[in-house]
Amino acid sequence: MALINLKDLLKHAKENQYAVGAFNVTNLGFIDTLIEAAVEQRSPIILQIAEVHLRYVDLEEIAPIIISAAKKVDIPICFHLDHGENFQTVIKAIRAGFTSVMFDGSHMPLEDNIAATREVTRIANAVNVSVEAELGNVGGEVIGEVAPIAHAASEEFFTNVGEAERFVKETGIDALAVSIGNVHGFYKGEPNLDFERLSSISKAVPIPLVLHGGSGISDDDFRKAISLGICKINFYTEMSAAAVARVKNYLINEKPDVTSIPDVIARAFEEVKNVVKKRLEVFGSKDMCAPEKTLCFSCTDTACSFTDPRLKPGATTFLYEDIVNEITDQVIANIKNK
Ligand code: 13P
Repeated sequence: MALINLKDLLKHAKENQYAVGAFNVTNLGFIDTLIEAAVEQRSPIILQIAEVHLRYVDLEEIAPIIISAAKKVDIPICFHLDHGENFQTVIKAIRAGFTSVMFDGSHMPLEDNIAATREVTRIANAVNVSVEAELGNVGGEVIGEVAPIAHAASEEFFTNVGEAERFVKETGIDALAVSIGNVHGFYKGEPNLDFERLSSISKAVPIPLVLHGGSGISDDDFRKAISLGICKINFYTEMSAAAVARVKNYLINEKPDVTSIPDVIARAFEEVKNVVKKRLEVFGSKDMCAPEKTLCFSCTDTACSFTDPRLKPGATTFLYEDIVNEITDQVIANIKNK
């Protein structure tokens, strides 16, 4: 199946009550690591690049690499722009081949947020790119080398149920990011998610809901949030911190005399993979990519390996391109025989 847009991917997640993990890519090493983790778990996955992280990666240079990597595997991968703040960045992402974009106008007055988001949706949906937007405001962005500051959620920025209903209707977005006590980065104290509010938003809006600030939330809270309509979970800080801790341990305790940089970097991404594989399990998406599951029911790509009965459970080497070539050969043969 390879690349899929957010709308098609989350439709299945919503109907089957699981969430798809969305992990931030801030370096080339994340690409293969995240995809390998998802393939090993037979899980769909979202690779996302946040606009604030464009200081680490160039959007137009990294896009073809992600697209090419995604096309080599037989799991659905959504390629998403996270927290697009500028209209120009959103359009650049659409042109670069992202299958989904977030336009984050959550800091704007409601009317302005509605108008700007509606314009993005009109453009993106015209080329089959999905749109996520945020209402209320999830605070606590973490960027840079310093130790992340812990944040506490503030109720004044929580998503208002009535506004959410109106926002979704008037913008036509495909997924809504909510603020229910979640924050980006580390939490000050224990996260205290407002599940009652989440349940009310879920009843008021028909589209899949998104939980930002996944790091630090407990497995039980993730499961509860998923049962109340969360279909996409954004996750970054915890995997980054775990990778750094692993490298520190490697350099200080395991191999203090190491001089090979690829071996040091490999330790970091081993840890990222461990963390991500565990999250995919908790989010309930593990083993959703098997021929007997109906993950691809909404996909119109008839050349996809999922719809091909020849792909047995566990077989992972059957490439999209192989099937396209085979079907093309069959069509040519049929024409010749007529
Ligand atoms: P964390 O870094 O807190 O996991 O949040 C990631 C996120 O929400 C990206 O949009």
